[in-house]
Amino acid sequence: MDNEKKRIVSGMRPTGKLHLGHYFGVLQNWVKIQEEFESYFFIADWHALTTKYNQTEDMRQNVEDVLLDWLASGIDPNKSTIYLQSFVPQTAQLHIYLSMITPQNWVERDPTLKDLAKIMKDKQENMSNLSYGLFGYPVLMTADILLFNSHYVPVGIDQVAHVELTRDIARRFNNVYKNDYFVEPQPKLTQIPLLKGLDGNKMGKSFNNDIKISDSAEITEKKFKSAITDRNRIRRDDKGNPDNCEVVWDYWKIFGTEDEKQEICAGCTGATMGCADCKKRLVKKINDYFAPIREKREELAKNKDYLKDVIFEGSKKARIKAQEVLDGAEKVIRMYK
Ligand code: TRP
Ligand code: SF4
Repeated sequence: MDNEKKRIVSGMRPTGKLHLGHYFGVLQNWVKIQEEFESYFFIADWHALTTKYNQTEDMRQNVEDVLLDWLASGIDPNKSTIYLQSFVPQTAQLHIYLSMITPQNWVERDPTLKDLAKIMKDKQENMSNLSYGLFGYPVLMTADILLFNSHYVPVGIDQVAHVELTRDIARRFNNVYKNDYFVEPQPKLTQIPLLKGLDGNKMGKSFNNDIKISDSAEITEKKFKSAITDRNRIRRDDKGNPDNCEVVWDYWKIFGTEDEKQEICAGCTGATMGCADCKKRLVKKINDYFAPIREKREELAKNKDYLKDVIFEGSKKARIKAQEVLDGAEKVIRMYK
């Protein structure tokens, strides 16, 4: 059907409050995309269990925090289907079928899984202690995506390998059952470069180097004061170079107009502007931008019933479409019906 909208699906693990890397790397993209596509966004609580099966005390809060960040950032439940993975059991059913046709060495090769495995290993748990569920991570993710027979998956660059595997599994399913039932979905990336953490390393909650969407203006300012700058610019009258100041300059690339960027660049290279002033100007721009989002988040946080409603209603909608796709897959497999 030509006039049917193309479908997209994407999810995030409930790891707590989201940071600006999530916002610019993924969320902004979703907000745009929901205008054009039939969109499914879900909180991947089962995926969280693959590594945190024994740290579930914050699960409830984390799910709520992710949902709040989404809604405040403009993911609109009237435009998109927002759901909780564990509220759509068809995911697990499809996962079973896909796990049967996925060769074990495909899963073992998955580079993102290797990263996850390494994290677990660093925490003293060796490879042989990885759970059966964690090995199934890429297949579970494939189930999430194929569950709506989605055309596109808007994710950050770190997830692209997973989407590649999803394509492989979809193709294999179609080959095994001599059908063209599943669409081979494609990743859909944002243009924004990966934002670094304040210390110049990968931004992440566990590194304590991130700025949260929900951080107050004061906290944002305080955090930026500690951000690393051009290492060669030690004193105020040393000349600097924005290209050696990735952390701050990457934000200027997002927030600055052409004129402002030129001005900052001139002030930095000519040593007529200090780093403190540069950061102060930048922080004001960031805080102005996020002020309405932060305000909306605070409002929404007061209304727990509404949040529950969004998840319940969205999950109900997701189950209907998921059941349809699952039924079709079972028919193709020739399950007893
Ligand atoms: N693996 C993703 C992450 O860690 C979350 C995720 C799970 C996902 N299932 C998905 C993303 C399906 C896109 C599509 O962020
Ligand atoms: Fe970085 Fe700005 Fe300092 Fe230049 S002036 S080194 S861009 S913080």
